[in-house]
Amino acid sequence: MSTMITDQTAEAAVDRSRTETGRRKLFVKSYGCQMNAYDATRMADVLAPEGYDETGDIAEADLVILNTCHIRERASEKVFSELGKIREIKLDRAAAGRETTIAVAGCVAQAEGKEILRRQKAVDLVIGPQSYHRLPEMLRLSKLGPVVETDFPVEDKFDHLASPAREKVVSRGVSAFLTIQEGCDKFCTFCVVPYTRGAETSRPVSKILDEATHLVEAGVREITLLGQNVNAFHGVDEGGAICGLAGLVARLSHIPGLLRIRYTTSHPNDMADDLIEAHRTQPALMPFLHLPVQSGSDRVLQAMNRKHGTRDYIDLIARIRAERPDIALSSDFIVGFPGETEAEFQATLDLITQVGFASTFFFKYSVRPGTPGAELDDQVPEDVKSERLARLQKLTDAQRHAYNASAVGKVMPVLFEKKGRHPGQIAGKTPYLQAVQVDGPAHLIGTEALVEITGTSTNSLFGSLAEPISSTEGAP
Ligand code: 5AD
Ligand code: SF4
Repeated sequence: MSTMITDQTAEAAVDRSRTETGRRKLFVKSYGCQMNAYDATRMADVLAPEGYDETGDIAEADLVILNTCHIRERASEKVFSELGKIREIKLDRAAAGRETTIAVAGCVAQAEGKEILRRQKAVDLVIGPQSYHRLPEMLRLSKLGPVVETDFPVEDKFDHLASPAREKVVSRGVSAFLTIQEGCDKFCTFCVVPYTRGAETSRPVSKILDEATHLVEAGVREITLLGQNVNAFHGVDEGGAICGLAGLVARLSHIPGLLRIRYTTSHPNDMADDLIEAHRTQPALMPFLHLPVQSGSDRVLQAMNRKHGTRDYIDLIARIRAERPDIALSSDFIVGFPGETEAEFQATLDLITQVGFASTFFFKYSVRPGTPGAELDDQVPEDVKSERLARLQKLTDAQRHAYNASAVGKVMPVLFEKKGRHPGQIAGKTPYLQAVQVDGPAHLIGTEALVEITGTSTNSLFGSLAEPISSTEGAP
């Protein structure tokens, strides 16, 4: 641990905090991936027994946590401009006699550590993603001076993170995230994740089943299993054997009331045969797969250290489609990786055309200090990256629109998650992760019902209710 004060002073801090009474307000702002969104909920859960209630109003927060993302430069830099604004709020509150604690969590905390305190003195606590179970203790320490906690502790944070109260789960809705795996051993040359989140680790199967059961008992109907490399999951089961993702999905599918299972994010090299097969044999496993390929050029893939070529990816997609022909595919792409030529970029467009994606995420290559990509000297100029990004966006927008348009006229089960945009509407998702707005009663929220898709807009489908197909209880 790299806290800046001693253990004796920590004890004094514990005593002082015990004299405090009354509930306090917590504001968490989360950036980046779904794993950060999940972590934000777990941080709120660990702080609830400490007297913190969440608020959506930062000005009334006694504790502000910025849960940061380091994946691209822009995400990292946003933290410092945000901290400047929060410092102003802290000063205003201090003038009114109220204390504010500012904590920086997430991957920027892990990567930058003390540097954050140097750049923004108003920060009280910097805490890395592996230490969230120690938040209460670290907050007490921070009363005595700034604390930086970015070690990878030997104990598993998940063993110590409090379960959410039932009301908390209910308030978070029908669809929940559940982290089952963290870290990455792949070392793609552009990526900071292996450095910020550390080596690949999988949670034990029984812990995951317990958490999933708890969520479903509180009304959750869809669970998205999360991991930086989720399909590399290899958790220990009750008998001490190693269980892969397909085995875990099979176990989860026995939980009564759990209608839908998803997982993200996957690496092509970890798509095991039994997982591909599970897309045919497990009805709860949704026909949607986010499988980043990053580039359509074999030279670029090699320079990225992806350890697969375009042919491997295309063959893999063919095998997946053979098991589950209707599967919707999604991918991440990076444009302007160092040395990327026009022909290599064109190869990416060709791959996209050949595969046909339901949705895509694309990013301009962003130099990340400490990664091998940052050492390459043939960086692509910003204007070339922007121009390529625009072309890629045009192609993928057209694919997404065509994909959504092909849903019109079909009848499919929709899991309703919340009220819709307009009064009398409810909103949900198709199995293919498309948002749908339907005229229907609020009591259907938390259930699946058959919907005929009648139209599309930029971000959503529209539909009308056919007969209900699930007798699951109403809104949780
Ligand atoms: N620059 C741009 N995009 C990146 N990603 C990861 N690192 C970088 C980087 N340095 C993208 C990849 C990954 C997604 C989560 O973020 O496409 O799949
Ligand atoms: Fe980063 Fe590659 Fe690991 Fe994904 S597989 S987290 S892109 S290093």
